[in-house]
Amino acid sequence: MESSDAPFCAQQHLEDNKIHVLLAASGSVATIKLPNIAQALGRHSNVSIRIIVTKSAEKFLTGQSLEQPVLEDLRQIPGVDAIYRDEDEWENSWTRGEPILHIELRKWAHVLLVAPLSANTMAKMTMGIADNLLLSVLRAWDTTGTVDASFKDKKPLVFVAPAMNTAMWNHPITTKQLAILKDEWGVNADNNEGWVSVLHPIEKSLACGDTGNGAMLDWNDIVGIVEQYIGVNKGHG
Ligand SMILES: Cc1cc2nc3c(=O)[nH]c(=O)nc-3n(C[C@H](O)[C@H](O)[C@H](O)COP(=O)(O)O)c2cc1C
Repeated sequence: MESSDAPFCAQQHLEDNKIHVLLAASGSVATIKLPNIAQALGRHSNVSIRIIVTKSAEKFLTGQSLEQPVLEDLRQIPGVDAIYRDEDEWENSWTRGEPILHIELRKWAHVLLVAPLSANTMAKMTMGIADNLLLSVLRAWDTTGTVDASFKDKKPLVFVAPAMNTAMWNHPITTKQLAILKDEWGVNADNNEGWVSVLHPIEKSLACGDTGNGAMLDWNDIVGIVEQYIGVNKGHG
């Protein structure tokens, strides 16, 4: 486990022969699936995971129940090498030459999975707002694959798994933001320049009592999609 005193520097990890998964959660109830996702991806011995949570996401992991452990407990999961909150960006007062956390995390990551993606973070991401650690990583993402090309084999993708109340999902602003994520930034056969993959929500009875679309895709399916992208087999190291 990494000491939180030493500023994180991607350079020191580039030759560790691991696949670097940056796993982020924003403030949706589906954050309670973060431990499951981390555990499943961490089963692969060649996967290193660093977790980012927004302030709201952390509120879902304060030890309130068995399925909602304290966030820090996730550091015990094999493969989870660090957990970051917004404060970590400013932990040491920066001086010239020091690493900058959101840039280092971008450099380090072979993939970023945002699961869940809250309505708020979706809105900010699509507008380019960068007022927390996760959004700063997203804003600094190497969308062309050219910035980090000297040490990465392929352009890293951002997977996002929206999760929100059905009315939030049905809101017209969601359609506009989804169009940015899918039609403008999305990876598909017609768009080599894409760098985002949207893992569509599903219909079910939501935690808030409403029934309809907006629930995060089943975490097993999310893990399977990321495993396929990073080239590890489900259930094997
Ligand atoms: C108990 C509770 C559950 C919430 N669930 C969701 C949710 O599932 N999806 C969502 O988009 N927002 C949800 N919210 C609202 C977000 O937490 C809120 O918009 C917050 O500002 C998101 O911040 P973030 O995007 O920086 O994490 C919930 C709020 C509370 C109090």
